[in-house]
Amino acid sequence: MKAELVQPLLRGRFGRPYRYVGETESTQAILGPDDPEGAVAVAEHQTAGRGRLGRRWEAPPGTAITASVLLRPPDGSPIQQLSLVGGLAVAETVEDALQLSAQLKWPNDVMVDRRKVAGILAEAREGIVVLGIGLNVNQTREQLPEDARAPAASLRTVDGTERDRAPLLVDLLARLEIHYDAWVAGGLDAVFDGIGSRDFLRGRRVRLGEDEGVAGGLDRAGRLLVDGRPVESGEVELV
Ligand code: BTN
Repeated sequence: MKAELVQPLLRGRFGRPYRYVGETESTQAILGPDDPEGAVAVAEHQTAGRGRLGRRWEAPPGTAITASVLLRPPDGSPIQQLSLVGGLAVAETVEDALQLSAQLKWPNDVMVDRRKVAGILAEAREGIVVLGIGLNVNQTREQLPEDARAPAASLRTVDGTERDRAPLLVDLLARLEIHYDAWVAGGLDAVFDGIGSRDFLRGRRVRLGEDEGVAGGLDRAGRLLVDGRPVESGEVELV
């Protein structure tokens, strides 16, 4: 996704500047406090792509969208909500591409047909948030990581179609900009309908560490309700 393919398609302020590299450890490390909001880093291949909770995020070169976006939320913002805001933008992008519904698995996964197609990683440092997005686009079944805990899919394994990644990325950035701006202006309430209506866990029995219960949806702060009790963060397993 070289700059000359992406830049002419950009519609808003996200994606400017657009930093493209062939190979890097992680696009999360490319952006810093001197970059403006909306700066984007994209790699064809990450050699040490990272996921939440110290996990790895892997994709063969040229198959996925691996992008990071620099955000400068106002001081004191509940930045843990940004993975839901990013997830909403990804879910809509996926739905538009596949013409199928996508769900958000709290706090940071995008699911289609009960499989994970994308993950979001929000990292805060030096007054900025770097929002990392990994979206499986053209991987074949053999190229996807095997993880029984979170079975993976790509857009290609869902509908058999190989896609240009540049228009998808541009669509994703435009949607992220809209939802992020709405969130800055109006908080999670401003984007809640799109998030709450795609809740993958609602009504399912889940385990969080030692705790087990039924997920009853998200509260207006973006916390998962398990048997009515709000959970701030953590690793959710389906029981
Ligand atoms: C997760 O599923 O736990 C989050 C995965 C986030 C992966 C993306 S790919 C682009 C950016 N760079 C990284 O090293 N990670 C994020």
